[in-house]
Amino acid sequence: MIKNIENRPLVAPSLLSTDFGRLAKDIKRVERAGADMLHVDIMDGHFVPNITIGPVVVKYMRKVTNLPLDVHLMIKDPKKYLAPFVAAGSDMITVHIEVVSLKEVKAMAKDLKKKGIKFGVSLNPATPLSKIKPALKYVDFVLVMSVNPGFGGQAFIPSAVAKIKALRKIFKKDIAVDGGINAVTGKLVRQAGANILAAGSYIFGAKNVKKAINSLR
Ligand code: DX5
Ligand code: ZN
Repeated sequence: MIKNIENRPLVAPSLLSTDFGRLAKDIKRVERAGADMLHVDIMDGHFVPNITIGPVVVKYMRKVTNLPLDVHLMIKDPKKYLAPFVAAGSDMITVHIEVVSLKEVKAMAKDLKKKGIKFGVSLNPATPLSKIKPALKYVDFVLVMSVNPGFGGQAFIPSAVAKIKALRKIFKKDIAVDGGINAVTGKLVRQAGANILAAGSYIFGAKNVKKAINSLR
C-alpha cells in the first residue's frame, strides 16, 4: 500500500476545484492542512466533455510541493501522453479502463514500475467491475469513479459503494474513490473498503480546509 500512517485513509484534494489563478497558494494551503497527496485532473475534451490542464502545468505544480502528485488521466489516448506526464513529475498515474487494452495496461505497468511511479486504473460508474478484473494484477491501485468524470461538484452516485465492497473482496492493494466525496459519503466509501479519498469541492469549498480534510479520515 501507498504510505498509510496509523491505518488512516489518505486524503487527496482535487485541484480541479482550486482557483487556478492562485494555484500555488492553494497547494500550500492544503499541504499545511495535512493533505496526503494532490489529485490532478487531466481532461482532453474527448474522453470527457471538458478540458483542463496538461503536463506543462503539472511541471510547475511539481516545483511548489513535495506532496505526491496523483495524476488522473481522463483522456482518450493515455499511451500517447504517458511520457510527458512522467517527465512533468507525476508520482501516481491513473488511466481509464474504458480506453486501454489489457496489453496496454501491461506495457504501462512495466514502464511505470521501472520509473518508480504508482500505476492505477479507473472505471466509470457505468463500467462493470468485470472490466477491470484482468488488469488488477498489474496495477498498484484502482480508482473507483463515484460521478461521471468531467466536472467537479457533482452528486455522489451511490452504486459506487457496492462496487468498492465487491472490489475490496478481490483486491488487497489501494482503492481510491473520486467524485462527490464529503464527510457523509466519505464514511460510506471507507466502510466499503476504500482507503484513498479524492475530494475537490468539499475541501476547497470549506471555510476550514483542515477540518474538511480531517473529517474524511
Ligand atoms: C471528476 C474528477 C474529480 C473531481 C472531484 O471528473 O475526476 O476528481 O475533481 O470533484 P468533487 O469532489 O467536487 O466531486
Ligand atoms: Zn479525478
